[in-house]
Amino acid sequence: MAVEVTPIEGVGAEISGLDLKSLSGADFDTLRTAFADHGLIFFRDQSISEEDHIAFAERWGEINVNRFFAAHPDYPQIAMVAKEPGDTDNIGGGWHTDHSYDHEPALGSVLVARVLPETGGDTMFASMYTAYETLPDDLKAEIEGKYAVHSGKHIFGEGPDTYYKQSDAGSGEDGSNRIGNAAVAATLEDPVHPIVITHPLSGKKALYVNPAFTRSVVGMDEAASKALLDKLYTHVFQGNAFHTRFKWQPGSIAMWDNRSTWHWALNDYQGQRRIMHRITIEGCALN
Ligand SMILES: [Fe+2]
Repeated sequence: MAVEVTPIEGVGAEISGLDLKSLSGADFDTLRTAFADHGLIFFRDQSISEEDHIAFAERWGEINVNRFFAAHPDYPQIAMVAKEPGDTDNIGGGWHTDHSYDHEPALGSVLVARVLPETGGDTMFASMYTAYETLPDDLKAEIEGKYAVHSGKHIFGEGPDTYYKQSDAGSGEDGSNRIGNAAVAATLEDPVHPIVITHPLSGKKALYVNPAFTRSVVGMDEAASKALLDKLYTHVFQGNAFHTRFKWQPGSIAMWDNRSTWHWALNDYQGQRRIMHRITIEGCALN
């Protein structure tokens, strides 16, 4: 089987012609290049166990054991991204990128579909490479050399703010205990990251702020900071040309780069069950 990398309109590439259970070194090199270039790779018709999932993730780096999401009962490396028929909100139901609240944000995640709703439950992705490239020149100049503060406290900590209600990272208020460990959230030291990063794998520039975890622009007052972030977010929200809507099927796997993409788990399947297994891989400081 020859590995094929087919770029997807908007963002990402579909990888075909391989079995994730038996990847050769050459296949993995192809994946690594595609991942750096596209920020999102996905696979169809795979059949992998939890052990296979862990083994695949470990080829990319150390696994980050999530501090806030409920873990798989037998495999702590796997975070459960679950929504039961009685749940109303979901995990990741607004545009965001994971782990920007860490000093060394995670490289990305490998998400495996386990139980899918009959309808709905697609995931949106957006390219932060293209988001940056397509910014107007004056906005590029405005963010040049600027930094932003990121935090997870308002999402994962006690007394979450209104953002949590609108398009949150999951709640657990419905008793599902999908999110926990609020005490740890309170101890997070909020990091500062450049608003434009040079991607550690590709060397390309990417826009690195997101509506869930970016709190303010360093050196600007609250109103100016909010105005600037809103301009950047509006650019991404309206950037249909660099969005992709990924439709999950049994056997689908997506791997996204947190540094060069945003994602948004659509919550349009009330009363149905959706169970995904997520493994997150450690990243590095961003410059
Ligand atoms: Fe997410």
